[in-house]
Amino acid sequence: MNILGIDIGGSALKGAPVNIKTGQLLAERHRISTPDVLTPKAMAAAVNKLARHFKWKGPIGVGFPGVIHDNVILTSANLHKDFIGCDAGKLFGKATGLPVSLVNDADAAGVAEVKFGAGKGIGGTILLLTFGTGVGSALFVDGRLYPNSEFGHLQIKHKSAEHFVSAAAKERDELSYKKWAHKVSDYLNQLENVLWPKLIIVGGGISADHDKWFKYLKVRTPVVAASFLNEAGIVGAALAVKK
Ligand code: BGC
Repeated sequence: MNILGIDIGGSALKGAPVNIKTGQLLAERHRISTPDVLTPKAMAAAVNKLARHFKWKGPIGVGFPGVIHDNVILTSANLHKDFIGCDAGKLFGKATGLPVSLVNDADAAGVAEVKFGAGKGIGGTILLLTFGTGVGSALFVDGRLYPNSEFGHLQIKHKSAEHFVSAAAKERDELSYKKWAHKVSDYLNQLENVLWPKLIIVGGGISADHDKWFKYLKVRTPVVAASFLNEAGIVGAALAVKK
């Protein structure tokens, strides 16, 4: 079965049709930049534009950077606050005329990596973290997802950890890879001390540059880059659609 996977991020929406049996993209991914913070209504129009780009007629899975309960968005740390309380399944469904399911964006990336990527066949506890505009997390035990884990919002100096360790924070504070990786190490140490994962998978755009910063990490847990790199969110959003 093929499902259109869409990954909503802080600066763009990206999507592609996905073969959910193999995890492969069936067409080149399409990206719509969102330099302005979009309202839910404007985002629905953008989702429809993506669906129309692929002349899509089937189900759609959308990854969104917030807590999701039954297609309702409960938090929106880095996107428009009007998303809070919004049933985006209904809103995007109405805009596209197609069935739409929502999932947290990092949970989506994790599902793709555990099923087809860096976490495939590994039992026990696996933690996936995405470093982008925010920091997303997905926690798995024996392949089963604990949804909406939100470890990007662990508190450091009375602020969310993502304020210090996201890729956006690295850019904002003009940190070298080395300096930023030291901050990321402290953060990972906190997580590994309470969760004791067997493996940490790192996703988000900056995972493509892993050769520039993994070498500076001081952690006991093996850390690997997501094998789908930045496409895990699209694949996982499609996989998360309930058949
Ligand atoms: C959100 C998470 C999301 C992460 C990465 C955080 O600010 O709260 O839900 O997974 O950013 O996009």
